[in-house]
Amino acid sequence: MNFELTVLPIADISGDVEVIIVVDENLKHRFVQEKKLLKKAGFSSGQDETCLLVEKNRLYVGASSLESQDIRRAAANAMKALKGTKYKSIKVATYTNKGCTYTLRAMVEGFILGEYSFETYKSKKSKSKIKEISISLEEYNEENIDIEKASIEVHKAQIIADATNFTRDIVNTTPEDCYPEVMANIAEGMAEDTGLSCKVLKPKQLRKEKMETLLAVGRASRHGSRVIHLTHKPKNAKVKVTLVGKGLTYDSGGLSLKPADFMVTMKSDKSGGSAVMGIMKAVAELDLPIEVHGFVGAVENMIGGDAYKPDDVLTAKNGKTIEIRNTDAEGRLVLADVLCYAQQEVNADYLFDFATLTGASVVAVGHYTSSIMGNNKEVQKLVVDSAHNAGELATALDFNNYLKKTIKSEIADICNISNTRYGGAITAGQFLSEFIEKKNADKWAHIDIAGPAFVEHAWGENPHGASGAGVRMMVKLLEKLSSKNNH
Ligand code: BES
Ligand code: ZN
Ligand code: ZN
Repeated sequence: MNFELTVLPIADISGDVEVIIVVDENLKHRFVQEKKLLKKAGFSSGQDETCLLVEKNRLYVGASSLESQDIRRAAANAMKALKGTKYKSIKVATYTNKGCTYTLRAMVEGFILGEYSFETYKSKKSKSKIKEISISLEEYNEENIDIEKASIEVHKAQIIADATNFTRDIVNTTPEDCYPEVMANIAEGMAEDTGLSCKVLKPKQLRKEKMETLLAVGRASRHGSRVIHLTHKPKNAKVKVTLVGKGLTYDSGGLSLKPADFMVTMKSDKSGGSAVMGIMKAVAELDLPIEVHGFVGAVENMIGGDAYKPDDVLTAKNGKTIEIRNTDAEGRLVLADVLCYAQQEVNADYLFDFATLTGASVVAVGHYTSSIMGNNKEVQKLVVDSAHNAGELATALDFNNYLKKTIKSEIADICNISNTRYGGAITAGQFLSEFIEKKNADKWAHIDIAGPAFVEHAWGENPHGASGAGVRMMVKLLEKLSSKNNH
């Protein structure tokens, strides 16, 4: 999809169909020309309403406000409404809030995110025919927008939305087609395209690095485990950030096998690692002036004669012993080793991990929200605020010492599950905190994306399946750190 910006008024530019976002429920704005027809069709500008007037070649889309998240959703809804039509080009005016270009960026993101559909396994593809979107800088609020500033925002939006779709594609791919080696190949290919460097550790090197816990989780799989390390290292970068992602290409639960209904969708257990790969792609393409490292633990959790077992005691890379009481709590075991490795390799200012870690996070905050944990309230807030600014939902969950006691073990240093059935998102986060070095305790946040990463219905600007959760929130955060780094 190609975007073109122009200072010409919307009436003077061409496009097969005009998209008009309507914020006012009384349909009073000058952009709304067919008030009577719209009323007749029952259109009242609600957030997810659309009304296509085919004879006029005009698509009306409702939005609750001019806030970025509402405009993003409206643009995505426009693309969904135009799916299956013969229109090849769109023209649209600009909808900004108090002259700021954030909403322009949100609109472009919405168009690209809303157009996404995963059709790899469909014999008949129904790809959208829209190739061209012309954006007139004629503005809803009649304010002036600088075309150069605007075109930079459009370009950034394209990079970020494309990276989100890149992540969605990886997550949606079946476990038969996307196993650890394939994930590493995708990372290597992306690194080559974008100029990142990429190192892949295979089982022999993983053994050398004493990542026995990660290896135990992957042992019953016919696919060898991988740890991927992507690096973006510009000159004179003052800030260093490390990202770590859970990349379970399939989570059957292992010997603590998941019930049938819970196993379906577990191809999405690689969402954290896939988000890290998408973020790294965006970081490279935006050429952010900060150093960013992305680590992915790519492993498949299966059953078999060689499987790791409840009752085993494993030793993590940092020497801590872990009593295994449930092989389905495998993500934290993989992350334990990758977090240790990441801290050994890079001395970063910030350390974030992304994981579909617990069903308990979904129970606690619902399907649409990520849980943000850590030792430092400010770092947690930085993540939550960035998520909200980027149009993702996130909320902080606090650690406490009472829950910490529930992951004690009688026979090892720590147990891989809690002795209480409640507070499971937090106890999983607290398990991870055992593998964060003291000096990094306040630099770390854990992001449980189990809720939003994969949802089996469309919501907001997200389609059925993978959403690419984590990508937009973290790119926003890294952009913020970049602007500080520049001053
Ligand atoms: N991958 C799952 C968590 C998950 C569940 C993600 C649902 C997305 C949707 C994870 O490995 C897991 O199985 N966790 C267990 C932990 C339990 C055994 C302590 C869970 O949440 O039930
Ligand atoms: Zn599991
Ligand atoms: Zn898992």
